[in-house]
Amino acid sequence: MKRTIAIYPGSFDPPTNGHVDIIVRAAKLFAKIIVAVTDNSNKNPTFTLAQRMEVLRKSTVHLPTVSVECFSGLLVNYLERKRAVAIIRGLRAISDFEYEFQMALMNRRLNRKAETVFLMPDEANTYLSSSLIKEISRLGGSTRGLVPPSVEKLLQNKRP
Ligand code: PNS
Repeated sequence: MKRTIAIYPGSFDPPTNGHVDIIVRAAKLFAKIIVAVTDNSNKNPTFTLAQRMEVLRKSTVHLPTVSVECFSGLLVNYLERKRAVAIIRGLRAISDFEYEFQMALMNRRLNRKAETVFLMPDEANTYLSSSLIKEISRLGGSTRGLVPPSVEKLLQNKRP
């Protein structure tokens, strides 16, 4: 897998240490990782595309083979444009599996070359999710150690 490009797509609203964990693991397997932030306004994200991209860049600055981009439209088309061979997704628990399985098979139905590679984060990161992080922060809890420092700042600025 060493000479190949992989795409790690997601909403990253906001990125957590679990996302960074997956990026670090993927960077060991593929020559280049493109972290692809969805520009899908249907999801009504809490953070702007520019904010999500900026914190992802800051959180991966130590990884020279990782770049951060945004994409709109179908993921399989973006994959093709980037000449990437794999889609990376993180699997935290069995509960993730159904949605991920459906998406992986649908992507392969749309483009038979679209393979999905699932990576598991460290156990310490399995209970992290962007939505829980946002709720904790909104209600005044600490997110230290759960998200990169730049995301912590972003969350603090968002507090009422
Ligand atoms: O972090 P998320 O929200 O679970 O990521 C979901 C994402 C962005 C990977 C998925 O919604 C996606 O691929 N969107 C692009 C549009 C697309 O290709 N949809 C068909 C997926 S089978």
